[in-house]
Amino acid sequence: MTFFQQQRGRGVPFLVIDGGAAFFGSPTKKAPSISKERQSLNVARNILNAYNYLGYHAVGIGPSDLQFGVDKLKSLLSRAEFPVVCANLVEKTSKKPVFTPSVVVTLEGMKFGIYGVCLDTLNPNYKKRVLGGKYDLLDPYETTRDIVARLRKSCDMVIGISHLNIADNEKILGQNPGIDILLDPYSRSGNKPVWVTEGEYVAWHGKTPMIRIDGQGSRVGICEIYLPRTGNVEEDYAIYDYPLEPQIMDHPVMKDIARGRLVPPNKTPHKTTLFEDLFLGAGTCGACHEKQLAFWETTKHSKAYASLTKTGDHLNSECVECHTLGYGLSFVEPAKVGEFKEVQCENCHGVDAKHAEDPARYRLGQVNETSCWGCHNPQILKKPFYPAKVKDKVSCPRMEK
Ligand code: HEC
Ligand code: HEC
Ligand code: HEC
Ligand code: HEC
Repeated sequence: MTFFQQQRGRGVPFLVIDGGAAFFGSPTKKAPSISKERQSLNVARNILNAYNYLGYHAVGIGPSDLQFGVDKLKSLLSRAEFPVVCANLVEKTSKKPVFTPSVVVTLEGMKFGIYGVCLDTLNPNYKKRVLGGKYDLLDPYETTRDIVARLRKSCDMVIGISHLNIADNEKILGQNPGIDILLDPYSRSGNKPVWVTEGEYVAWHGKTPMIRIDGQGSRVGICEIYLPRTGNVEEDYAIYDYPLEPQIMDHPVMKDIARGRLVPPNKTPHKTTLFEDLFLGAGTCGACHEKQLAFWETTKHSKAYASLTKTGDHLNSECVECHTLGYGLSFVEPAKVGEFKEVQCENCHGVDAKHAEDPARYRLGQVNETSCWGCHNPQILKKPFYPAKVKDKVSCPRMEK
């Protein structure tokens, strides 16, 4: 979430796309029990709420999305506030697509055509179970050829969400030079490793990147496109992944969604919403906890922002997230950091502004080590971290009873 806020805060126009297979776990051999199905659909509703809030531009369909049948999927996705694209899932008799085949998004005057196709070579029993007599999956080769030709006429760039086996996607790229970017999200059935290792995110087919970011939802793939394109892929694209593990702080809306609370429909997606009243800040905490404030001032956490200003990195959005409070929630533009400088009390103790109104009722509780890991992230800093060993150094003195 913070990642999306950060990108939006930078003011760079961007598309948010999900390859699909987003809503349910792996399909089971036999039809799931009613209670399992109900449970999965409840989780899927929360995911859908989250996707609505994030403001996706397009989401594809993968084979696992079909596991409770097309009618159940349709009913779930009737509440989607984003286009679900799948060109080859059709009603059997009318051949009418169940979802929209493609969507055209205009960004900065550029037209991006995004289509989707889903694997048709499913296990026959599974196929019968999920499609029934009512639906069908058309040949993805023909479907791709038709839709790419159509989009090509009106769009500046054509992006495929191609939920197929890797060999099929390679062939499709050979046959359809009109595709500018192919997203290859299908990672099951030994088709490709579940964990895509670094360096394998992108395979070039001529000047077309085939991108497959995985990591079980723990990473987002980023494809930066520099316009106007020069024809030199090195200059035109930067493609990499971004780990979501350092969830610097919980997002209040996402927390509600995960708890199954209904969040009002997102009428203005793609906007950055800040939460100015979420944090109290060290000054307010310190008014009641003088001793702890004085201790904190002796730790390097209280100078973390100062460490950045020395080198001018306080304006670098890649640095401020771990050297401030609530980046992405309280502010996004580094220059607007205001009172959120330094690693403050709430970075460790958690957030609940009501604590100040009624401390005995709204308790902050014990400091959880997971709060440390977001910043002391060994993967990013290339430095090990042993919280149990160093916790005493930063533990404030206990309150007097
Ligand atoms: C919001 C990010 C963030 C969180 C959360 C965080 N740290 Fe830090 N920590 C930092 C930064 C940044 C520094 C370096 C500050 C500097 O020198 O500029 C640091 C420095 C330290 C140091 C050296 C401090 C000193 O005064 O010598 C220790 C020890 C430490 N952290 C432990 C922890 C522990 C334990 C937790 C969890 C209870 C934690 N940190 C939570 C970002 C964080
Ligand atoms: C993932 C969180 C994170 C990010 C991102 C991050 N830092 Fe830090 N930084 C830390 C932590 C944690 C420490 C304390 C490390 C320790 O003492 O073990 C630290 C320490 C520092 C220090 C003081 C200690 C030292 O090594 O000299 C400086 C200066 C610093 N960071 C600069 C930067 C700059 C510049 C960037 C951006 C390029 C950056 N940091 C990005 C978490 C982060
Ligand atoms: C690096 C993380 C970190 C930061 C930053 C931090 N604390 Fe603490 N604080 C701790 C830890 C760890 C303890 C020990 C108790 C525990 O484990 O929960 C503690 C203890 C406390 C206690 C005593 C709790 C009790 O049960 O007696 C208070 C009050 C407190 N902190 C307030 C603050 C205030 C106010 C600030 C900011 C000025 C602050 N803390 C900043 C980690 C932190
Ligand atoms: C209006 C005064 C006041 C403010 C402001 C305040 N606290 Fe407290 N805090 C208290 C009191 C009083 C207690 C003891 C509650 C009890 O035990 O009944 C307490 C308890 C705590 C504890 C012990 C654990 C718990 O949940 O009881 C921590 C940690 C703590 N405060 C941290 C903070 C932090 C961090 C802030 C700022 C975000 C903050 N406090 C702001 C008055 C305040």
